[in-house]
Amino acid sequence: MKRKIGIVGATGYTGVELLRLLVSHPDVEITCVTSREHAGSRVDAMFPNLRGYLDLAFTAPSDEALSACDLVFFATPNGVAMKSTQTLLDAGTKVIDLAADFRIKDIAIWEKWYGMQHASPNLVEEAVYGLPELNREHIRQARLVANPGCYPTAVTLGLLPLVENGLIDLEGIIADTKSGVSGAGRKAEVHALLAEAGDNFKAYAVAGHRHQPEIAQTLSTVAQISIDPVFVPHLLPMIRGIHATLYAMLSVEAAQADLQQLYTTRYANEPFVDVMPAGSHPETRSVRGANVCRMAIHRPGNARRVVVLSVIDNLVKGAAGQAVQNMNLMLGLSEHIALQQPGLLP
Ligand SMILES: NC(=O)c1ccc[n+]([C@@H]2O[C@H](COP(=O)([O-])OP(=O)(O)OC[C@H]3O[C@@H](n4cnc5c(N)ncnc54)[C@H](OP(=O)(O)O)[C@@H]3O)[C@@H](O)[C@H]2O)c1
Repeated sequence: MKRKIGIVGATGYTGVELLRLLVSHPDVEITCVTSREHAGSRVDAMFPNLRGYLDLAFTAPSDEALSACDLVFFATPNGVAMKSTQTLLDAGTKVIDLAADFRIKDIAIWEKWYGMQHASPNLVEEAVYGLPELNREHIRQARLVANPGCYPTAVTLGLLPLVENGLIDLEGIIADTKSGVSGAGRKAEVHALLAEAGDNFKAYAVAGHRHQPEIAQTLSTVAQISIDPVFVPHLLPMIRGIHATLYAMLSVEAAQADLQQLYTTRYANEPFVDVMPAGSHPETRSVRGANVCRMAIHRPGNARRVVVLSVIDNLVKGAAGQAVQNMNLMLGLSEHIALQQPGLLP
């Protein structure tokens, strides 16, 4: 029997990406898609790419209707999922939040960065951080998954082998990251207008971005010591894609380590991480539409300096694709179902 799936916030960019992936999933049926603004309109009237794939209209979000689903995705702004999740879990419905409500374990840190009081602090400890390459077995058992942020996915996967093996100076990590405009969502904002974001390139939130504490939390947990990396995001004049350039200094003892072998071995059994041959330059367009984090390791000049290049599609491995990967694990299905398309190139 197909599992019933609900999507709250299905008119947004991650919501429509969930729809695109799930309509070809053989084991699930999308039964409830919500929008407050477009309740009553057919989904394929807004998203013609789904014509012939989905015979549904948007409905206003209702905990009662969502509780009839086996699993619900929240593709909503921060602060929405935390208000309904307890009700859904009590009804036996599993939840994946694509926003940040359950990502940060320290409630005070979350409230400081997200500027609101947490509505379900008791659920934060239970929530599993949905990075399968780190937490696969916990995700399989989870009722509630906090899907990682897009930048944190690219940065964490790029640094994980170095941090897990204690090979780098933990004070010197620099994550220099760039994202396409769809990372900001589908809402109308001046900075995302074509005439503002097109033919332009700039850094933003250098003084502090919400993804910094998320990256710091994961890497600190892995290293078992507090890590506070430099994280600088930039806005690229393209629609999809994240490129993370990660800089670190190897410890003296690790200066001769074979990093190519380390990364290849670490990710050998990971279906959605691709370690390229040494010296490669991964391109964002190679992962467009694909649930893949593609990376390459460089050791320029000084033998102790390491540079990792890591690319993802922010809407796929950075959001909806990773969420479907987590759904497959939570429902006891094969992890790769509906996620095996290669990137759309050119
Ligand atoms: N875009 C990315 O690349 C990306 C990557 C990783 C994670 N995320 C996270 O994923 C979440 C969704 O991002 P997005 O880019 O898809 O956002 P978006 O394009 O702005 O869409 C937001 C959706 O949420 C709905 N919504 C807004 N307020 C709501 C409320 N109070 N209750 C119920 N529904 C509400 C909106 O529809 P109505 O207003 O009609 O209800 C809309 O469908 C965000 O938390 C974002 O940080 C985004």
